[in-house]
Amino acid sequence: MEKYYITTPIYYPSDKLHIGHTYCTVATDTFARYKRLQGCDVMFLTGTDEHGQKIEDKAREAGVSPKEFVDKIVEGPRGVLDLWKLMNISNDRFIRTTDDYHVQSIQRIFKRMFDKGDIYKGTYKGKYCKPCESFWTESQLKDGCCPDCGRPVEDAEEEAYFFRLSKYADRIRDLLENTDFLQPRSRVNEMVKNFIDPGLEDLCVSRTSFDWGVPIDFDPKHVAYVWMDALFNYITALGYENSRYDDYEKGYWPGVNIVGKEIVRFHSIIWPAFLMSLDEPLPKHVFGHGWLLLDGGKMSKSKGNVVDPYILAEQFGVDALRFFLMRTFPFGSDGNFSTELLIQTINTDLANDLGNLVSRTTAMVDKYFGSTLPADQRYQAEMDDNLKGMVSGLRDKYQAAMDSFAPHKALEEVFRVVQRANKYIDENAPWALAKNPEELPRLACVLYHLLEATRVCGVLLTPFMPDSCEKLFAQIGAEAEVRTWDSGARWGALPKTVTVRRGENLFPRLDMDKALDALEAAEAAAKKADLPEIELEPQLEEKVDFDTFCKSDFRAVKVKACEAVKKSEKLLRFTLDDGTGTDRQILSGIHKWYEPEDLVGKTLIAIVNLPPRKMMGLESCGMLISAVHTEKGEECLHLLMVDDSIPAGAKLC
Ligand code: MSP
Repeated sequence: MEKYYITTPIYYPSDKLHIGHTYCTVATDTFARYKRLQGCDVMFLTGTDEHGQKIEDKAREAGVSPKEFVDKIVEGPRGVLDLWKLMNISNDRFIRTTDDYHVQSIQRIFKRMFDKGDIYKGTYKGKYCKPCESFWTESQLKDGCCPDCGRPVEDAEEEAYFFRLSKYADRIRDLLENTDFLQPRSRVNEMVKNFIDPGLEDLCVSRTSFDWGVPIDFDPKHVAYVWMDALFNYITALGYENSRYDDYEKGYWPGVNIVGKEIVRFHSIIWPAFLMSLDEPLPKHVFGHGWLLLDGGKMSKSKGNVVDPYILAEQFGVDALRFFLMRTFPFGSDGNFSTELLIQTINTDLANDLGNLVSRTTAMVDKYFGSTLPADQRYQAEMDDNLKGMVSGLRDKYQAAMDSFAPHKALEEVFRVVQRANKYIDENAPWALAKNPEELPRLACVLYHLLEATRVCGVLLTPFMPDSCEKLFAQIGAEAEVRTWDSGARWGALPKTVTVRRGENLFPRLDMDKALDALEAAEAAAKKADLPEIELEPQLEEKVDFDTFCKSDFRAVKVKACEAVKKSEKLLRFTLDDGTGTDRQILSGIHKWYEPEDLVGKTLIAIVNLPPRKMMGLESCGMLISAVHTEKGEECLHLLMVDDSIPAGAKLC
């Protein structure tokens, strides 16, 4: 069985993951699943890159050890492992660069390269970008700043070990220019022009100014440069220079490294040079994918525009999110992420096209034939040839796209067939055929063709949306033997007398406004859920002086009218009698706990001398007082109500 090894970059756990990181891992997962579908013996690796000065600094700020700091992000609730589980990432192995076996391998590798003379001791003088953990020479800086992230760099001078990168310059140039090692091809020119042409300098591969790294065992005041430590994960995770695994010898290496565009330099120049030094095979391919951008800019927490993959997956479904990422953005290029685009894609491709095809087809088999197609399916028509031809040729086109790392093109091909199949329904008007008993064999034939088209699309969509395709197969009655890669190229694999099982709508249509509101509410709730630890608790200790307290004007207010605010999930709009003779309007985000009609006539307590606030374009003059507590992890809220003996406007003191 052909072995296939594929990896993602290992994530740097200095902060929470965002949708950009998720993109990269989902893409790699899709390729891994595709290769498994083809019957390959796949090894899929992901993990975390846990050393370096930035983590040491952040841990110090947080008052914990670096290991405690990374443990929380990797293993903690809604951490890296949880996210990959949620996203249905099918990695076979997860490496952490703090794992003992990896540390041991790095020490051995460093020593071997030192003994060979490819690593030597010298003095490092140059520039260092702390956030990127990258050394730069003066000539590589862009306007005096880091060429990757544009941030200022620091002078650095210290005793250090160097790797003879310059020795491998010609071989690297040849690798880049004359092989298909680095893809897409457009990245080759970038690398050659920016790094090889100006001349490769030796690379500093140890540091003495901080401790959080793999110690060089024969000179322990040094720790290995974080990129050296990180790059070798791809083979230490297979057991290279350690006894934890034996998959390196079993032939999984060389594999394919999928990486983001900003780290192509490390993967296409430094990484192969390290391997050349050790006389080990080079990766089959390094593929540098593009970035997801927000409003044309970088997705970064510091800009306050991170899109939380947890919230997106929970709101829209894991498969819809996976699909959107692969369908929308050409894999080698940058793309602008937006939630509107996500909702549109769900509605167009998944609800209108695919979901409809499945539900219409199964509904018709159900309605016209009591869910099982009859064996008599005479009357193939010429008009069937186009659909049949497209379905039969689909797998080859899909395969060509997937093999050239163009999942977006593979999906384009599949959806061309989905759309064609929907058109085939309209062309054949099964509802008209159903009216004439003589046409029933033709009707059965038309419906069989639709099920076949749906099945083949399902097979090829499985790597993208594994759970939804299972449901799709169950609905169209496709058993395990016709869900395979082989059967994906075989028209007519589905038994003629197939039985469908109508099921839930695979991809319900979303209302754009409601979906965006719900997303906003979920984001706000997630932020709120984060608050107690950092902001709310200290307030319990805060004291208010008596005079300040006395300034608060609490009144009994009687509810004259109450309604839900349009386009808001949470807000209720109250018209209140506050005893002044003029109605008072207060908005309150309590719809989750109360229906508006239940509150009319009740007397509540409000603070009435707060400055007015606008919410959803409406003015709110005051705040209703409630009691809030948590029960079984759920937030519970009760409005404070008083009985009718207290008239509207009564002051509380
Ligand atoms: N730790 C290094 C990788 C070492 S591999 C030996 C690293 N980590 S990272 O956490 O910063 O990034 C992980 C991956 O996420 C990288 O491939 C990076 O390109 C990718 N992305 C980060 N932001 C992204 C987008 N906005 N869009 C797409 N991918 C992005 O680099």
